[in-house]
Amino acid sequence: MKIIGTGCSHPSKVVTNDMLSDLVDTSNEWIMTRTGISERRVISSEMMLDLAVEAARNALDDAGISASELDFIIVANVVNEYVTPALSCILQGAIGATCPCVDLNGACVGFIYGLDMAEAYYKAGKVKKVLVVCAEQPSRMLSWQDRSVCVLFGDGAGAAVLAEGDNIKATRLTASSNYDKLYQMHELQPSPFNTKPSTDLPLVMRGQDVFKFASKASYADLSALLKETGKTADDVSLFLLHQANIRIIENIAHIFNQDKAKFPTNIQKYGNTSSASLPILLDELNREGKLHHGDLLALSAFGAGLVSGACLLEW
Ligand code: COA
Repeated sequence: MKIIGTGCSHPSKVVTNDMLSDLVDTSNEWIMTRTGISERRVISSEMMLDLAVEAARNALDDAGISASELDFIIVANVVNEYVTPALSCILQGAIGATCPCVDLNGACVGFIYGLDMAEAYYKAGKVKKVLVVCAEQPSRMLSWQDRSVCVLFGDGAGAAVLAEGDNIKATRLTASSNYDKLYQMHELQPSPFNTKPSTDLPLVMRGQDVFKFASKASYADLSALLKETGKTADDVSLFLLHQANIRIIENIAHIFNQDKAKFPTNIQKYGNTSSASLPILLDELNREGKLHHGDLLALSAFGAGLVSGACLLEW
C-alpha cells in the first residue's frame, strides 16, 4: 500500500514541566535532561472519540477522499471511555463511513500493527483504501502522584489513509510476554460470583528495563528490515522513532552512526502519546513539507507487552 494522507489532533490543555513540579517532586531540569520532554497535551473536556475523529477527518482531507470510499478502518487504542462497542465502530459512524472496522491494542506499536494489517488485507485482495487511526489517553491510565511515570506521557491522535501502491517495503513485529515491565490493571464491574481481590492499579513501569528493551528492540528491528531489503542505514532518508525518550532516539542514531538530523522529534511538545506518537510525527513532517517523493522512511516503535515493530516505507 501507499500512504496518501495524514492527520492528527491534540487536546487543548497544555501541561508544562513547571506545572508538574507543582503536583510532584520534580523539576523542568530533571524532565528535560532525562527525557527531552518540555510539555505535553492532556485530555480535559474532550472525549477520546473527538480526537480520533478530528485526526481521521484531517487525514481524509489530506488524502482527498471521502469516508464513503474507505474499505476498512483500523483504530489502535489502549483505553477510551467505551469498553464496547469498539472505538473504530463509533468513529465509523461519526466520519460517515460504512465499511467494516476493528480496534487493536498494540500499545505504543499500534501504528505499525495497523500498517501491517492494512498491507496484509490489501495483499489478500480484500481492500483498496484503509484508514488507520491511533488515539490514546495515557493520562487516564497513570497516577498523577507517581513522578517516575506522569512526566513521560501525553494524549493525542494521529491517522493515515492508505491506498493501492507498492510503498510499504517491509514490516516486522515482535512480542515477548514480559507484562510485569509495563502494565495497568483496572477494576471491572462487581459480580456476586467474583472471588478475586480488587485489581485497580495505575500504570506501573520498570523504567530502566523498558529503556534497555526499547533500545535493543529498535536496533534489532531496523537492522533486520535493512538486511531483508538490501538497504543500509545510509539509504534511509529519515528515521521516525516512537517518541518515548530523547535518549533512546539518540542512542539509536549513535548505534547506526547516523546524523541526529535524520531522527526528527516532537517529544519536546507532546511527550509519549503511545501509538499516536508515530502518525502525529509523520503528519507534522508531511505538513511541513519535509517528506519528499521517493524518500525512504524507517519507522520503529516499542511498548507494553513487551512488543516492538518497524516498517520501511517509501514516501
Ligand atoms: N523527577 C525527579 N526525579 C525523578 C523523577 C522525576 N520525574 N522520576 C524518577 N526520579 C528519580 C528516581 O526516584 C531516582 O531517584 P533515586 O536515585 O534517589 O532513587 C532517580 O530519579 C533516577 O531514577 P532512574 O529510574 O534511574 O532514572 P532514569 O535515568 O532511568 O530515567 C526514565 C527514568 C523513566 C525517564 C527512563 O528510565 C525511561 O525513559 N525509561 C523508558 C520509559 C519508556 O520509554 N516508557 C514507555 C515505553 S512505550
